[in-house]
Amino acid sequence: MNFYFAPMEGLTGYIYRNAHHAFFNNIDKYFSPFIIANQSESFKTKELNDILPENNEGLVLVPQLLTNNAKDFIHTSKKMKQMGYNEINLNLGCPSGTVVSKHRGSGFLSKRDELDAFLDEIFTSSITKISVKTRIGKDQPEEFYDLIEIFNKYPIEELIIHPRIQKDFYKNKPNMKIFKEALILSKNPVCYNGDIVTVEDYKNFSADFPSVGTLMLGRGLLANPGLISDINNNIKLDKNTLKDFHDKIYEDYKRVLFGDRNVLFKMKELWFYMISVFSDNAKYAKKIKKSERLYDYEEAVSSLFKEQDVIILTRVV
Ligand SMILES: Cc1cc2nc3c(=O)[nH]c(=O)nc-3n(C[C@H](O)[C@H](O)[C@H](O)COP(=O)(O)O)c2cc1C
Repeated sequence: MNFYFAPMEGLTGYIYRNAHHAFFNNIDKYFSPFIIANQSESFKTKELNDILPENNEGLVLVPQLLTNNAKDFIHTSKKMKQMGYNEINLNLGCPSGTVVSKHRGSGFLSKRDELDAFLDEIFTSSITKISVKTRIGKDQPEEFYDLIEIFNKYPIEELIIHPRIQKDFYKNKPNMKIFKEALILSKNPVCYNGDIVTVEDYKNFSADFPSVGTLMLGRGLLANPGLISDINNNIKLDKNTLKDFHDKIYEDYKRVLFGDRNVLFKMKELWFYMISVFSDNAKYAKKIKKSERLYDYEEAVSSLFKEQDVIILTRVV
């Protein structure tokens, strides 16, 4: 099985990605959180830092673009190609209201003629390989039948399917019935994404879909960054490794971010997921969330590691 780390805005930027690669080294491709392709000739500093080759040494990174404008996709692709990237991922999944109202992300799925024309233009220009990360529709799962006909017209490097509709956000269950159809209907290679958060989820998925060779994981990996070592080699996440991993991320954020508040904000976002691998974690989660100074944060984290065990059985989604 190939494993991809899902793009997660605010969470899986280069600081996190590098630490994950250094400690676990088992991801075939990392995907950058989306970068909005627009008319601007230059990237924003934050976006540029995230994809600069020198900030991503030794790992495979696929930058992701969010746009519904083919010209913007193409000129941004050219810049990415100059940086050394040979694959770009198109975001057709983002469910957020501000994105969808502009008919981007999963909002683009309801504009099928425009989507078809957009894909035609970007595939004709053929700057890099293009993979697509998509939901199965905006309002109805059945939209997927029209969408797959459009996707099948283009040589998509990989069609990464998160089988929810925009309206689901991250609620409800992935629609495995439509995913099964997708495997039959897609002319392009398919990667599955959604709700694989335990070894058991992985085993169940593999038993149900033995032909799928690529999985993308997001929240499950943020909760248990060692999940793939467990899946592949039965190596359980070890508390000391998790502590060192945490410390590396924390130190790197302190180094690159301006101000304690920004560091704390980033760390708290990560703990939203990571706390679930600890026993009896409620009290510590609260302390971490409430901490307003680095000192309080460090104390909360240190007591969590000292007093609790890594147990990995809680579902995070
Ligand atoms: C906080 C958050 C940020 C996300 N940011 C992105 C993003 O930038 N690009 C994208 O394609 N998907 C994004 N996603 C969706 C994830 O990549 C993934 O599709 C989703 O979490 C389902 O997979 P999982 O169940 O393995 O987490 C985000 C999801 C969350 C919860």
